[in-house]
Amino acid sequence: MTTILITGGSSGIGLALSRAALRRGWAVRWISVDADEITRANAELADAFPGLDLDALCVDLTAPDAVERVLKWVKKTGTPDILVNNAGIGVYGAVSDIPPEREVAMFTLNISALHALTRAFLPLMEDRGGTIVNIASNSAFQPVPYMAGYAATKAFVRHYSLALDAELKEQGSKVRVMTVCPAAVKDTPFKGTAGMDGLRTFESFTATTADEVARDIMRGLDSGKRFVVSGAKMRAAYVLAKFAPAALVQAIVRREVEKA
Ligand SMILES: NC(=O)c1ccc[n+]([C@@H]2O[C@H](COP(=O)([O-])OP(=O)(O)OC[C@H]3O[C@@H](n4cnc5c(N)ncnc54)[C@H](OP(=O)(O)O)[C@@H]3O)[C@@H](O)[C@H]2O)c1
Repeated sequence: MTTILITGGSSGIGLALSRAALRRGWAVRWISVDADEITRANAELADAFPGLDLDALCVDLTAPDAVERVLKWVKKTGTPDILVNNAGIGVYGAVSDIPPEREVAMFTLNISALHALTRAFLPLMEDRGGTIVNIASNSAFQPVPYMAGYAATKAFVRHYSLALDAELKEQGSKVRVMTVCPAAVKDTPFKGTAGMDGLRTFESFTATTADEVARDIMRGLDSGKRFVVSGAKMRAAYVLAKFAPAALVQAIVRREVEKA
């Protein structure tokens, strides 16, 4: 049976992906920070999927001992076939208005924790093979004013994951890294937590849903993809943007991050 471990699995994209995995009869593992949220989401899935194989570890991935705790848990529960580095937060606003500690907390989760888990799971997966799915964002494609730090974390995820995957392929590794760039997702708590409620991008024609992202991730896994732009309309915009002047793309992005 396939086992999928999803960080941030108890909410938003992670929860939608969990449902998609359970529909296939896969075993699901979560790492999330909020114990109440884990209990609530677990109960919801238990109703919908009787006999589900679901196990969760409640840990703050920004804590210094987080990876150690994760590895201890995985030793008991088994190495997953698929690791999805999905847990992430955003911060919206002018850099001058954001306390630097909030940016650092975001860098620690979005970059350092993703990096640490990727490095920790690679050797575990090497023998049997597996896939590491790293969730970036459409904000990884260009600098984004008023989401400066967030977009920079996602640019890191995109570049690091694509380069690592190219190295692994060249080395004949059985591990693949799939980079996923979702468009703005309308129906997850992310935008509220990030202070992004009311931004045009969540109402834009390219906006997507957690279920659509989960579907695109599953299709990417099935077809052995290494790079997935998620949201059908975002994929079209991504292709068009390649032919548009950079200044025009930047102007559109600037408008997207305004409050409507
Ligand atoms: N929403 C969008 O518009 C959008 C667009 C592109 C990319 N993304 C990316 O997609 C990913 C998922 O976003 P989402 O929209 O599904 O957001 P979400 O619903 O807010 O989910 C975020 C998840 O991360 C977990 N998390 C937060 N801080 C954590 C920590 N310190 N340690 C462990 N887990 C932690 C949360 O756990 P708890 O539930 O326990 O709090 C939650 O399950 C993020 O990486 C985000 O950057 C989102």
